[in-house]
Amino acid sequence: MGSLRKLDPLKPGYPFNAHLVAGLTPIYKGGELDFWIDRPKGLKGYVINLTVSGSGLAFPNSASPVQVKKGDMMLIPTQATHDYGRHFDCDSWHHRWIYFRPRATWTEWLNWSRTINNVGFLKIPDESYETIDELFQTVDHSSKNETFLSEEFCLNLLEQILIRCREFDHARPCTTIDQRILRACHFIHENLARELSIRELSHIACMSSSRFSHLFKDQLGVSVRQWIEDQRISMARQLLITSSLPVNQVAVYLGYQDALYFSRVFKKKLGVSPRTFREGMHKSVISIKPERGVM
Ligand code: FCB
Repeated sequence: MGSLRKLDPLKPGYPFNAHLVAGLTPIYKGGELDFWIDRPKGLKGYVINLTVSGSGLAFPNSASPVQVKKGDMMLIPTQATHDYGRHFDCDSWHHRWIYFRPRATWTEWLNWSRTINNVGFLKIPDESYETIDELFQTVDHSSKNETFLSEEFCLNLLEQILIRCREFDHARPCTTIDQRILRACHFIHENLARELSIRELSHIACMSSSRFSHLFKDQLGVSVRQWIEDQRISMARQLLITSSLPVNQVAVYLGYQDALYFSRVFKKKLGVSPRTFREGMHKSVISIKPERGVM
């Protein structure tokens, strides 16, 4: 993560090519962070944010600008426009945020009922504010630890945030993922180690290839190819952590015939090579000291 560390996710130019990044953006009028967050093409992952003090404004030039205050949340999907900053009438805006690549099972929780330009808006009930704020803080803290399984821990906390938001969103009726898409997802999981074509998967889902690709993206928020790659990389992480298989065998196990290509994809997604990732994990495991009496 060496090169990523030098860049600041609060400043423009940060690549956001990790799976999860979290932070707090304290904007004060005239301060160094007092610029407009303007990403017309969005980011590769989702961003969820929570206003903790002051006030922000989203889509100021649209027909429906939205002012956010303490307890208001925004959920910005992949590639949706980021167009927000401090509200002109307020001297500060502090918001916590988490950038993430969603797990496949989260789709149902990522569609909030109130959206403007694809961005979801939701108010946290006052009595639940502390709980949500603490979850955000723990994700922020743990994501910077980069210790053994810290990302899994963060994803677990983020899942709790999303489930709670789903509960707060009374206006939204329950929807479930299309059974045919689920069937294809299970098939992908069982067959990660081999070539998977859209044709074969659409056959499993009993649809035409174009209908399948379209519905898949609609329901899971990413393309079929992207989803398969995400599943492979997440399985690769598990194997690198929990097994002693050499990197080239992990690649073969996950259907990559070319270990160099696998390492490139892995590095692009997680910012480090598989080897460095494994070494980092082992170091952090070794540095975790067992409590007295616990082996
Ligand atoms: C930071 C912003 C924050 C969020 C993350 C992804 O730079 O301050 O609002 O957009 O990026």
